[in-house]
Amino acid sequence: MVLVARRGDLLSVLAAELIRRNGIEVHCFQADLADVGQRLQLAAALEEKSLVPDCLINNAGVGDYGTFADAEWTRVENMLRLNMEGLTHLIHLFLPKMIERSSGVVVNVSSIASLVPMPDLAIYAATKAYVSSFSEALRIELREQNIAVLSVCPGPVHTGFGKAAARTEGEQIKGVREWFCIPKEQCVAESIRAMDLDRARIFPGLKVALVAAGISLVPLALIRLIMANRPRRV
Ligand SMILES: NC(=O)c1ccc[n+]([C@@H]2O[C@H](COP(=O)([O-])OP(=O)(O)OC[C@H]3O[C@@H](n4cnc5c(N)ncnc54)[C@H](OP(=O)(O)O)[C@@H]3O)[C@@H](O)[C@H]2O)c1
Repeated sequence: MVLVARRGDLLSVLAAELIRRNGIEVHCFQADLADVGQRLQLAAALEEKSLVPDCLINNAGVGDYGTFADAEWTRVENMLRLNMEGLTHLIHLFLPKMIERSSGVVVNVSSIASLVPMPDLAIYAATKAYVSSFSEALRIELREQNIAVLSVCPGPVHTGFGKAAARTEGEQIKGVREWFCIPKEQCVAESIRAMDLDRARIFPGLKVALVAAGISLVPLALIRLIMANRPRRV
């Protein structure tokens, strides 16, 4: 297993836990995946160790709560680079070897936000719409090469996401999201099951899955009306 994130100290703790519990080989790479140079360094480091991903999980992603006009450009840029460019580049870097082996799975972590335009999370939702759309097309392109592509579209899950997306420390996000929250273990377990079943897309959690099914039946004009009149999140 290869773990990648910016906080190398946390990666080492996680790696030690994975090795202790499962007796597997774990490699850690400290890298900022929003940075093209660091993505290339990661690919070179894996190549040097002859490591080819059989399952590439593009999970790293960030949000930014608040209106677009008030956003700091550096945060917007980082979000675009990580959520879209980084994910796309990593697939592009590792795909040739996966195709050579004629096997593999790409798991792209999207969001239920990919389904609707979201005021106060406008760029984030748009990046996730990109992830879901790209994943669906790629899945069809790669079918003949025996590479599966799954997009995971969670609703709210308690992680570090909210804290990282807040613009000011301690900012509370209002709304009905708590009602839809599922434990992260459930999100992961349902995603792995979907991967085993070669599903194209999964909305973990029954309530989120029902909302997703409902959204697909609602015309855009009604979605506009709902989004314009719902309580603001921030
Ligand atoms: N939590 C939710 O409610 C929710 C709902 C729908 C979708 N999602 C999606 O789920 C995915 C995982 O998020 P999460 O909820 O687990 O949030 P999280 O707790 O903030 O985790 C984000 C992960 O991405 C890594 N990361 C962030 N920026 C990075 C960068 N520039 N380079 C490398 N790694 C980076 C972080 O590690 P470092 O900080 O150490 O780099 C961390 O491991 C994201 O794509 C998110 O959009 C989350």
